[in-house]
Amino acid sequence: MGLEIDVNVELSKIAVSAAHGEDSPYFAGWKAYDGNPYHQLNNPSGVIQMGLAENQVSFDMVEEYLEHHTEAALFGKTKVSSFKDNALFQDYHGLLSFRKAMASFMEQIRGGKSKFNPERIVITAGATAANELLTFILADPGDVLLVPTPYYPGFDRDLRWRTGVNIVPIHCESSNGFQVTPEALEAAYQSALSMNMKVKGMLITNPSNPLGVTITRGTLEKIFDFVTLKNIHLISDEIYSGSVFSPPDFVSVSEILEARHNKGAERVHIVYSLSKDLGLPGFRVGAIYSYNDKVVTTARRMSSFTLISSQTQHLLACMLSDKDFTENYLSVNRERLSKRRKMMVKGLREAGIECLEGNAGLFCWMNMKPFLEKPTMECELDLWNSIVNDVKLNISPGSSCHCSEPGWFRVCFANMSENTLEVALKRIRDFIIHQRRRAEK
Ligand SMILES: Cc1ncc(COP(=O)(O)O)c(C=O)c1O
Repeated sequence: MGLEIDVNVELSKIAVSAAHGEDSPYFAGWKAYDGNPYHQLNNPSGVIQMGLAENQVSFDMVEEYLEHHTEAALFGKTKVSSFKDNALFQDYHGLLSFRKAMASFMEQIRGGKSKFNPERIVITAGATAANELLTFILADPGDVLLVPTPYYPGFDRDLRWRTGVNIVPIHCESSNGFQVTPEALEAAYQSALSMNMKVKGMLITNPSNPLGVTITRGTLEKIFDFVTLKNIHLISDEIYSGSVFSPPDFVSVSEILEARHNKGAERVHIVYSLSKDLGLPGFRVGAIYSYNDKVVTTARRMSSFTLISSQTQHLLACMLSDKDFTENYLSVNRERLSKRRKMMVKGLREAGIECLEGNAGLFCWMNMKPFLEKPTMECELDLWNSIVNDVKLNISPGSSCHCSEPGWFRVCFANMSENTLEVALKRIRDFIIHQRRRAEK
């Protein structure tokens, strides 16, 4: 940055700690993309970003809404919402109109099978902040959260870095479609105890982990029984709840609670965000929904560090309370995501690559085991290096998601145009042909 820094000036332990996890291939792949981004005309041999679970397939509907509803974005003395009121608003409860709209959108996504009370919603700047904030509240430095693998690589940063909390993985395997089993839960729990660490909770990504596989109702019931038995918390990160293209497959933890008349609900906390379902990660709009009064109160206090601007709250309160818009958006968005996934799975199958069955609209988990020189993590990273540097596709190796089996890769397909996806699929096909020829020699 042009300044000569005196390296002897010390920074805090947190500042210099490597617990942010940014040295993983997940972030290295992003850097490769940032340094040489693909552009159809200006840089056709650049890196295509397939490591970013972003939803760009439905922007047109949000843009159209904004074009026809200027009251959502415009402020002024004579407008529905006064500029002064919004500019001065700084209550950490957030706008009631926004919390109401968020609660009702969360109900709508779940097909009306769950009820959410706006008073229990704590607003946060995205799910990133929500997950960290909950970790601060539920665990002390040195304590443990159990997280099923493979998991979103950002959790290493969000749950561990500033909180000092540890993650102990619950290892899931491809033999049962990467579902969490009671045996795996117990093994992870015992592994934490054997390191003299206190387990404070478990965090699941529901409906879809990086594999794009839904946690079934049966598995969710078992998870809930486990956290009840061990007297620990359950965080359910339901950020993808509106992006699964076959919604009946998605069971929110809120449904399990309702079926059990909210018995044990005080240990359950749901995380949500509009980053994926509405494709608005830049707006930084997230929420915690906790069934525990003390957690709601504390989270609200802590949310002072991570609020959403009142202008954004106002805009989204208007948009999300427009039922015609949200109903149409959710159904068209699901249709488009489903079409994308089909295109991706078909294209990979033509190249001889199988994907795990799943119903996530933003990514899938492809099996590249047959293309590893040996079934080891080192060989997975070698293959990943060639795909990023030679094929120029940024995909995420399973090891960056803490998958315990080598050869799985996550590919995202909703953050680009159909044309770009075609180019990516062609590159993969060519690469596989090349690999096969090499193996035959
Ligand atoms: C499971 C999961 N949780 C949280 C996040 C972070 O979301 P946000 O942009 O709302 O902070 C992501 C983003 O990829 C994610 O996949």
